[in-house]
Amino acid sequence: MQTIVTDSAKEAASYINSGKIVAFPTETVYGLGVGICYPDAIENIFIAKGRPRDNPLIVHIARPADIDSVGREIGSDARKLVKHFFPGPLTLVLKKSHTIPGVVTAGLDTVGVRCPSNPIARNFLELCLCPVAAPSANTSGRPSSTSWEAVLHDLKGKIDCILKGAPSDIGLESTIVDCSNTPPILLRNGAVTIEELLGVIPEIRIGENRHNDEPPKSPGLKYPHYAPLARILLCTSGETVIPESETPYAWIGLTQPPVAAGFALVRQCGTTVEYARVLFDFFRKCDTRGIGTIYCELPPAKGIGRAILDRITRAAESN
Ligand code: TXA
Ligand code: MG
Repeated sequence: MQTIVTDSAKEAASYINSGKIVAFPTETVYGLGVGICYPDAIENIFIAKGRPRDNPLIVHIARPADIDSVGREIGSDARKLVKHFFPGPLTLVLKKSHTIPGVVTAGLDTVGVRCPSNPIARNFLELCLCPVAAPSANTSGRPSSTSWEAVLHDLKGKIDCILKGAPSDIGLESTIVDCSNTPPILLRNGAVTIEELLGVIPEIRIGENRHNDEPPKSPGLKYPHYAPLARILLCTSGETVIPESETPYAWIGLTQPPVAAGFALVRQCGTTVEYARVLFDFFRKCDTRGIGTIYCELPPAKGIGRAILDRITRAAESN
């Protein structure tokens, strides 16, 4: 299959409107979409990514008001979250409308819904004739794509079109809140922080651990994620690092590596926001450079630091 790269939202939407598979920019990470009115074509997303079939997709809408066409019995908590955070980096899990095909939700009675704020994404979604089901546009298990070049690297020849945009502003996937029950439950940390969510819904709960034997609330959480080819080692600030690898090693964090010499790549971030933005791109650069071990400095567990902690911990578990 030939993969067209375009900066025309109109051209990209015309692919969606004929049941094709299109990657597009959002403020979190790039998405890989198919229109939900083409249930047979949704399958192509799972094939292109190598994604397990029991991991449901997020449905992307052009306007906040469109949630009423994808969800049902939407309660006051969900409405409040929409009012405060849509459009933006937040996904709400709602009871699904009967119009959502089961292949999108992996047979669940709920659906994840997001309205991105990125202007190119909004323009594109407005031109699509139905909402767009899309996971992150990366090979399953690998770091999400935060640039169109990363999408091309992973998915060239496997998808019809890539809509070009700037590198993603946030760099980590959306916050997910399950609003299908009361009180809502935070399932995934992202740029909408727990502090901000508590400001709107004080009763919100934090999702339980995902290591028990019960079916996970968010099926995707049980799979390996975000992993570069390199081994990830987590370290606390100031901890002495004694690189033990024969292969080149790299460092990413808020401070300089404690042992100055020998790092083939070093990325010192000025803020946690910057750390989030560059993390996946850094992982991919390390893979290109043949780095064997990446030392990730643990950021403070507040604000978007929680989302970074979550991703680097998952990446380390996938070693
Ligand atoms: O920022 C994002 O959320 C990006 C952009 C493209 O929107 N998308 C994204 O999709 O990260 P994905 O598929 O990589 O992650 C979606 C997560 C998965 O862990 C999936 O299990 C969960 O959302 N999810 C989707 N629908 C769900 C549902 N009905 N109930 C619980 N979890 C759900
Ligand atoms: Mg993903």
